[in-house]
Amino acid sequence: MNYLLRGTGVVTAVGVFSLLTFSLPSGEAHGDGGGNVLPRTINQAWQQECASCHLAYSPAFLPQASWRRLMNGLDRHFGENASLDPATQADILRFLEANAADRGGSRIGSKVMKRMPAGEAPLRITDTRWFVHKHDEVSQSVWSRKSIGSTAHCAACHRQAEQGVFDEDTVRIPKQ
Ligand code: HEC
Ligand code: HEC
Repeated sequence: MNYLLRGTGVVTAVGVFSLLTFSLPSGEAHGDGGGNVLPRTINQAWQQECASCHLAYSPAFLPQASWRRLMNGLDRHFGENASLDPATQADILRFLEANAADRGGSRIGSKVMKRMPAGEAPLRITDTRWFVHKHDEVSQSVWSRKSIGSTAHCAACHRQAEQGVFDEDTVRIPKQ
């Protein structure tokens, strides 16, 4: 995977993110199906610290155990050092746990859990069986298109991903 190319897309996504964040009604509801996956209450530290390199991935995509593993290894976070001070780290982890897939607060979370083998705690949303199943019609050649670069670059295809919207109507796969 070409990190530089991926970087370009991420920077654009972050720009859009900051524009949109503040125009969102704060009480945005949980979606049905693949609709709106952002939790009702957004955590400020999470938005600040976890959206600087990529989209702030909704906590509903992974179980609590995954978030614990991930937050305990921020110093070696997918090849990056994403360390935080202990207070901020604890604050973000509380938020992620409270809104995790296995907390029963969202339909998308229930779907993720339905396909999760007991005891598993993947570090990547893109490694979950739910994700792989949902995206099985996307071919390998599409994932490697220049403007996508990584399966984790949700916003390349989900044009309203920064707002937590993932429903079918908002998917547009880039041509190259
Ligand atoms: C210094 C940059 C940086 C920061 C800050 C950062 N990340 Fe990441 N994160 C990455 C990179 C790089 C990847 C791998 C992306 C890829 O494979 O395309 C990643 C991947 C992820 C993934 C897996 C995505 C997948 O493949 O499903 C999750 C989940 C994640 N980050 C959560 C977080 C959380 C939560 C925070 C805030 C505490 C955070 N990240 C902060 C750089 C960062
Ligand atoms: C290459 C483009 C592409 C990328 C990148 C991508 N997706 Fe998707 N996604 C799709 C397509 C295509 C569908 C299927 C839409 C449909 O149901 O017809 C889909 C479906 C979904 C759905 C289900 C929507 C529903 O209505 O059931 C969710 C949720 C979702 N994706 C989340 C993600 C997340 C989270 C990421 C990043 C970690 C991601 N996607 C990355 C193309 C993509």
